[in-house]
Amino acid sequence: MESRLKELTLLANKASGQENHPCIVDFARYLKLIQEEAFRCKNITEKLLDFSRTTEHKREAVSLPKLVQSVLDVTTHLQNSKGKKIEIKEEQHTNAWINAEEIKSVILNLVVNGLDSMDDGGILTIVIREKDGQAEVAIKDTGIGMNQEVLENIFEPFFTQNRTGKGTGLGLTISHKIIQQHGGEIEASSEGMGHGSVFTIRLPLHPMVSMNTNESMRRDGVPSGQPLLVSA
Ligand SMILES: Nc1ncnc2c1ncn2[C@@H]1O[C@H](COP(=O)(O)OP(=O)(O)OP(=O)(O)O)[C@@H](O)[C@H]1O
Ligand SMILES: [Mg+2]
Repeated sequence: MESRLKELTLLANKASGQENHPCIVDFARYLKLIQEEAFRCKNITEKLLDFSRTTEHKREAVSLPKLVQSVLDVTTHLQNSKGKKIEIKEEQHTNAWINAEEIKSVILNLVVNGLDSMDDGGILTIVIREKDGQAEVAIKDTGIGMNQEVLENIFEPFFTQNRTGKGTGLGLTISHKIIQQHGGEIEASSEGMGHGSVFTIRLPLHPMVSMNTNESMRRDGVPSGQPLLVSA
């Protein structure tokens, strides 16, 4: 697929070099559309494969400020972070009982969504704290905001109104699934278009516990091969 996409790119670039010919103009436009859609399909396939590949869901105590910082180390190099400010407010040093790689991908999607939604001068604020016995990360942006229709659909697969035109509409669907599997919550809110958005995720501080039908109780989250622990 990679080499076919390269061929398509070469063809599209070649055609767009002959801009004076009327037929070539249409041809180049359609080729460009096909190229963009092909890249979108490639992104979707990669995301689905990534998600289905995650077979090991091992969880441990992970420092959320460190995890968030490792995501920001990546996003500050992205083109769409230029001219925008990102602030971290760490109310407490919070550890959560999570699979670090999975939660990193959730935070990455939320940060990129927030950055995509803002113009130059936008501010993304990430608040990390413990609240009501859970770890909480709230990602607030000063971007385009969301109306009721968008809010009702954001977790649906393939729903995208991303301003870059490059969204696959899978980021929040997959994020929702990951948070649900952790026994946590993800919540979106906005005061409406032009008023920014807030995405809040809540995660367990400790392994989830449940009494088994025998007498033991475990908090380590490590599957023992016996049905001792039920962790969402
Ligand atoms: N912070 C935000 N501000 C405004 N709209 C948002 C925000 N986050 C998400 N959305 C809306 O929700 C849609 C779905 O987001 P989601 O992350 O699932 O997909 P995407 O960003 O379009 O594509 P990708 O699959 O590459 O993440 C976005 O396209 C956008 O319309
Ligand atoms: Mg996204």
